[in-house]
Amino acid sequence: MNSFSITLLKGDGIGPEIINQAVRVLNRAAEKYNFKLNFTEAPIGGEAIDKTGVPLPEETVKVCKSSDAVLLGAVGGYKWDNLPGGKRPEAGLLGIRASLGLYANLRPAIVFEPLKSASPLKPEIIGDSLDIMVVRELTGGIYFGKRGRTVQDGVNAAFDTEMYTEKEVERIARKAFEIARARRGKVTSVDKANVLESSRLWREIVTKVSKDYPDITIEHMYVDNAAMQLIRNPRQFDVILTSNMFGDILSDEASMISGSIGMLASASLSDSGPGLYEPIHGSAPDIAGQNIANPLATILSAAMMLRFSLGIPHVADEIERVVKDTLKTARTPDIWAEGYRKVTTDEMGELIASAI
Ligand code: IPM
Ligand code: MG
Repeated sequence: MNSFSITLLKGDGIGPEIINQAVRVLNRAAEKYNFKLNFTEAPIGGEAIDKTGVPLPEETVKVCKSSDAVLLGAVGGYKWDNLPGGKRPEAGLLGIRASLGLYANLRPAIVFEPLKSASPLKPEIIGDSLDIMVVRELTGGIYFGKRGRTVQDGVNAAFDTEMYTEKEVERIARKAFEIARARRGKVTSVDKANVLESSRLWREIVTKVSKDYPDITIEHMYVDNAAMQLIRNPRQFDVILTSNMFGDILSDEASMISGSIGMLASASLSDSGPGLYEPIHGSAPDIAGQNIANPLATILSAAMMLRFSLGIPHVADEIERVVKDTLKTARTPDIWAEGYRKVTTDEMGELIASAI
């Protein structure tokens, strides 16, 4: 029997509640499809700060590195909002991305058919379906560049640096082209090459890499225009390839278009070693502990984990099918509408698990 070790980083806010439901679903899938999962928990973010004084204990990195995949809930909360940058819960997330070399962040923005009316865009703009994949570079750029405080002409100043090497751009570009190949065959590379030198290098390298993928359509777009086009005509996009910072912003925008932020999963991958899977939404401290959070993004992240890290895509397909099916009758409060059964976080997890 295939056996896999999974590290659970439950984190803060609604993190533990939603991870628990994903575990429930995974255990049921393992039973039905005859594989074994060994879960180990490790602290990250605010939880880790409270327990150990740092947002990413070395032990957590070690446990993650020795597992087949990592499933993460969310980090952050009011309690830790006033800590200095490097000591905040978010530093734990950035740290684990860097430690595991997770340079490729895949963020699908999908409109689930039964949730079409939840999109803030007009139905004619959404059309029959919407399926965009944001491929965000995750371990470089301004998030990890040189930063600091200084004094200039007697006034305080601060700086962060956007820098990319050819290598960093090339590997994320290749990922995007390969992903596009299994989809609709189009990559839109988003940059700010009319202003930024780092973007000009980005565009050069993406153009060079694109020659190796003659079957894929490549298009370059400035980030301001991309932000507008996502609202004006989102269906023109298949794969959006972009930098860490632009990807952070555009993936939130793309997820809102789908109207289902509580539904969207993500995968962060390296070339070898475990991938990390997490819902794209945050820790939602305002609703933590109330058993009302939507666990579906985490459950769908677990499905991505089965597909990309554990090599059992048919089980991922089954979980995704059950999620879509369940939405036809039952919903958590965030996506609830007249005529549907309103369910708690636990009940949603139980519904999905028992339908597998
Ligand atoms: C995300 C989040 C993180 C990011 C924060 C929490 C550090 O916004 O995953 O998009 O900016 O990458
Ligand atoms: Mg973000």
